[in-house]
Amino acid sequence: MPAHKLRTQVAIIGSGPAGLILSHLLHRQGIESMVIETQTRNYLEERIRAGVLEQGTVDLLNEAGLGERMRREGLVHRGIELRFDGRSHRIDLHELTGRSVCVYGQHEIVKDMIAARSANGGPIYFEASQVQIHDCESESPRVTFDQAGEAYEVACGFIGGCDGFHGICRPSIPAGVLSIYEKVYPFGWLGILAEAAPAAPELIYASHESGFALLSMRSPRITRAYLQCPPAEDIAAWPDDRIWEALQQRLGMPINQGPIIQKSVTAMRSFVTEPMQYGRLFLAGDAAHIVPPTGAKGLNLAAADVSVLARAIAAWYRDGTTEQLDSYSAVCLRRVWRVQHFSWWMTSLLHRFAGRFEDAGGFDRRRQLAELEQVVTSRSAAQTLAENYTGLPFS
Ligand code: APR
Ligand code: PHB
Repeated sequence: MPAHKLRTQVAIIGSGPAGLILSHLLHRQGIESMVIETQTRNYLEERIRAGVLEQGTVDLLNEAGLGERMRREGLVHRGIELRFDGRSHRIDLHELTGRSVCVYGQHEIVKDMIAARSANGGPIYFEASQVQIHDCESESPRVTFDQAGEAYEVACGFIGGCDGFHGICRPSIPAGVLSIYEKVYPFGWLGILAEAAPAAPELIYASHESGFALLSMRSPRITRAYLQCPPAEDIAAWPDDRIWEALQQRLGMPINQGPIIQKSVTAMRSFVTEPMQYGRLFLAGDAAHIVPPTGAKGLNLAAADVSVLARAIAAWYRDGTTEQLDSYSAVCLRRVWRVQHFSWWMTSLLHRFAGRFEDAGGFDRRRQLAELEQVVTSRSAAQTLAENYTGLPFS
């Protein structure tokens, strides 16, 4: 079957937040792109993922003209609560940093961006299969894929590798080019979405003897919550009653209950690939790095990557300069490692370690409680948390 031959300036693999934000930022600079995605539009618009946006991400979406619904429906939070040892402490993010965060679901952003991209004629090929990238080390890379029984070949100037942790872009880079840094945690998160009003106005992070719990939300009527659990936990071991009971016990408060409309278990890891570039292929977002979700950084890090990448590609098309493209990886990795440290720190501070890492004599628990005590009593310690949580400035 002869392939349809297409041409674009930037072929973007993956229509998650990284790919979609990249295609919008490029469009704002007058650069054409094409997004190729294996899933259906409906799947992407319904998939529940992250939900906390840093100020820098909010500003980026607003500047890209994507913030209209987020400004109306997003919930601005000026603080978070930390709970441990039967006590509750508010970290006043706004007072400590002058910044706040915005609670707005990743799938809502994805919906807004797909709608905006369709409105301005940006092509997104959903339900693509056999996606492959070619000739990344040359000046004219190509992408091939099938869709609805037709074959396509896209000639382009650059490839945005925005296809997440399980995508094909990173594995397409020849062996020996990338260094991988990884840490796998001995626990995961059981996440639920429930039709119930959030039991508190701000997010509550609880470190309890029986494990970590987080109370979050998606709207004034929808609760999002997480429980630390074994990494390969069978969801069948958690009937609704057990979930509500564990949440109330760990959070130390009554929770509004309602139908649980989604339940899932996610293992936790920290992962970085260096560099984030191979020739004309630029990796961004989860394709290049994963953080454990405790600091709520995955989506924000993806946004930070593509803001650097869009500027670098725009500079190349505007005046042929390669400096920003050449420094893409180094600029992103500086932030990535800062955020890796913060996400690892929040995770280590709040979870109970088990299995091989078990804290048999209780030393680590007491050390954790001492550190938590410091975070809630020392202004400088609280400020460090707040600065990182609300987000470092975008470079
Ligand atoms: N070809 C095309 N698309 C692909 C392929 C492929 N071979 N493999 C995966 N994809 C798509 C996935 O279906 C997904 O829609 O790439 C997209 C990657 O999106 P995400 O996994 O959401 O990753 P990213 O855009 O980097 O977003 C950052 O932050 O909140 C965290 O992990 C959360 O998804 C979030 C991430
Ligand atoms: C979420 O609401 O999904 C959420 C909030 C805070 C986190 C992680 C996830 O740290």
